[in-house]
Amino acid sequence: IRKIGVLTSGGDSPGMNAAIRAAVRAGFYYNLEMYGIYRGYEGLIQNDIKKLDSKNIAHVLERGGTFLKSARSDEFRTPEGRKKAYENLRSHGIDALVVIGGDGSLTGAHLFYKEFGIPAVGLPGTIDNDLSGTDVTIGFDTACNTAIEAIDKIRDTATSHDRLFFVEVMGRDAGFIAINAGIGSAAAAILIPEKKMPIEDLVEKLKIRTKAKKSSNIVIVAEGGKSGGAAEIAEKVKKHLPYYDIKVTILGHLQRGGAPSSYDRLLASKLGVAAVEGLLQGKYDVMAGLINHKVVYTPIKKAIVDDKSVDEDDFRVAKILST
Ligand code: F6P
Repeated sequence: IRKIGVLTSGGDSPGMNAAIRAAVRAGFYYNLEMYGIYRGYEGLIQNDIKKLDSKNIAHVLERGGTFLKSARSDEFRTPEGRKKAYENLRSHGIDALVVIGGDGSLTGAHLFYKEFGIPAVGLPGTIDNDLSGTDVTIGFDTACNTAIEAIDKIRDTATSHDRLFFVEVMGRDAGFIAINAGIGSAAAAILIPEKKMPIEDLVEKLKIRTKAKKSSNIVIVAEGGKSGGAAEIAEKVKKHLPYYDIKVTILGHLQRGGAPSSYDRLLASKLGVAAVEGLLQGKYDVMAGLINHKVVYTPIKKAIVDDKSVDEDDFRVAKILST
């Protein structure tokens, strides 16, 4: 392997820049040529590829977002799109890829390897934390910190007005941010896609807390939750608790931005180096992750399988602490 292309794809996450920088610096360390592929697979199809030098990666580690930009590419899902992408890659003589993104992005790398034999190491870059083969994904820690900081502010105003707030956090089909931010902000209840909580149970819980004279109640709702989004749930609860002053806040894309936390910088840096070293060691079609502080390479096919679930113990702790 002489030339490696790096791309970020799907929803951006804090720490992606740190991961790109680490991969590129590791590449230089091992005397490789490093290429930036802009706007993910979309840029690969449109030949938006540039050779990187050390100036390109100066002062990016501490910045949120991804300087390579990101996109969700429909064309790459088609065999014709992937063929175009392969031809562009070859025209630059790039022989391997580092793909930073979530499950969709890693699936793309896996298909590309299967169809064209392009060696790829994936890095788990998503705030959702929904990839196996790593304890946490790049960006998750920062997103949880951002959510908690925002919820703390909501708590101030909720307490001043004795209000009930429904706060919706991100995490498509996954309750990791919700459970983490919920425990970290003393939520009255946490609703996640993995566990259905009947509205009656939630209402009962809120009634008990009212009797206990809690001056504010914050319910965290993961987007994509089985009982609906925050607005929908607030509407249903209002019917049972008409005397409550209810407000809804959707944190949304706020959670995807901002400077990466110290943990995300370390995680991204370790995995960026691991990606390049993995490729040089012939580890293809794998995702590099960190398990118990050690770099582990997991076949991409296994990493994207939806078998990582919110820790039962976290759920138990959340229940104890909100009762
Ligand atoms: O996968 C990351 C994520 O932020 C999810 O939590 C969210 O559902 C989705 O991306 C939003 O995607 P978009 O920015 O394309 O609307």
